[in-house]
Amino acid sequence: MKRVDDFRLRLGKHELVPIMIGGMGVDISTADLALEAARLGGIGHISDAMINTVSDRRYDTKHVKEKLALFKYNVNNEDKSSVKFDLGRLVEATRLHVEATMTRKRGDGMVFINCMEKLTMNAPKETLKVRMSAALDAGIDGITLAAGLHLGSFALIEDHPRFRDAKLGIIVSSVRALQLFLKKNAKLNRLPDYVVVEGPLAGGHLGFGMDWSQYDLATIVAEVLQFLHDEQLAIPVIPAGGIFTGSDAAAFLEQGAGAVQVATRFTVTDECGLPAEVKQEYFKARDEDIEVNQISPTGYPMRMIKGSPGIGDGIRPNCEAYGYLLDANGKCSYITSYNREVAAHPEARKVKVWDKTCLCTHMRNFDIWTCGQTTSRLKDTTVQQADGSYQLLSAEHVFRDYQFSTDHQVALPQAQSR
Ligand SMILES: Cc1cc2nc3c(=O)[nH]c(=O)nc-3n(C[C@H](O)[C@H](O)[C@H](O)COP(=O)(O)O)c2cc1C
Repeated sequence: MKRVDDFRLRLGKHELVPIMIGGMGVDISTADLALEAARLGGIGHISDAMINTVSDRRYDTKHVKEKLALFKYNVNNEDKSSVKFDLGRLVEATRLHVEATMTRKRGDGMVFINCMEKLTMNAPKETLKVRMSAALDAGIDGITLAAGLHLGSFALIEDHPRFRDAKLGIIVSSVRALQLFLKKNAKLNRLPDYVVVEGPLAGGHLGFGMDWSQYDLATIVAEVLQFLHDEQLAIPVIPAGGIFTGSDAAAFLEQGAGAVQVATRFTVTDECGLPAEVKQEYFKARDEDIEVNQISPTGYPMRMIKGSPGIGDGIRPNCEAYGYLLDANGKCSYITSYNREVAAHPEARKVKVWDKTCLCTHMRNFDIWTCGQTTSRLKDTTVQQADGSYQLLSAEHVFRDYQFSTDHQVALPQAQSR
């Protein structure tokens, strides 16, 4: 039986180990994680989700504090339409993160950035344009368009000098979404360099409704491969979602995929940005501890661990400091839910809000534990220590396990003495 290392992904003149670590916001897929993938000959992702927060944490800027100071007058106002991002600051934050990452890059692999369209930021087009342009200016190898149909996203950067040389890809969850994207972009004469096909078992937001369990990644991948074959389009297809072993990955490569995108197995690595105690929650999670719910204000279903502290938490909306999910009219469905609960419980010091969550605040604080369905198998990928905790893995260990394992085996790490 073949293993992943028997295959290579060709992107232009690059020949890569066909393993891509998916973008995980907010800084869960850190530069360190992405750089390991690149060093090992694959592709890693950083993410530009809540880039001002990432910049403040890592590069000592004060974007969040200064934005809050600017809009503090509006904190008790339901109307958030005046709470705008400063585009210059977004450029600066993106440049800092991308440049700091790319200058440390070693090896033959690549580092891409994950850009989610659903981060509408109270000015969807303008903010997405500067995020993508700044990433290209700062030398990112490629951009993966995520969380949205991105029908107009290529056009936003068509005048950028790197539009035709940087690698640009899109995540879709159906052949229909890919067809729409290609149709809308036909006049630009610029095909995507790769297409990630994300199935219903992935982490983060899902490109499916609450009937997600009716869908199956292998079937969607087969449909996309058939469509591209019929159209004579040689675009590498990269399945994602629930690919847990090297053999799972090799099966897709044998079926004609160009690479695989994986994420969940890397959430419990040293390089992953989740706090250490949250990584233990991922290890401990059983199947029945994981749910897909509709509390994300984006409107997309999202998978998470049921014990996430952000679920039900009725904090005051923090749009003046963050505001990444404000739509083009300055609205976010969490604000509506929060105000409804406050009106219903005028005497309460703190309300509970169950139907939506303040995703910006909780993702920033790592209090929404979004995860893939296979998180319940992570405990089988490591050893338990004397105190009952699970030993973290190195990204290199997990990457190489995907690359070389056969027969659905998962290589355990050497037990560390502590
Ligand atoms: C913790 C976590 C956060 C994620 N965040 C994002 C994100 O910000 N943007 C995105 O496009 N995909 C996100 N994803 C999806 C992954 O990039 C990837 O496509 C998917 O999880 C692969 O499936 P797997 O986790 O079963 O390997 C996230 C996944 C996880 C586990």
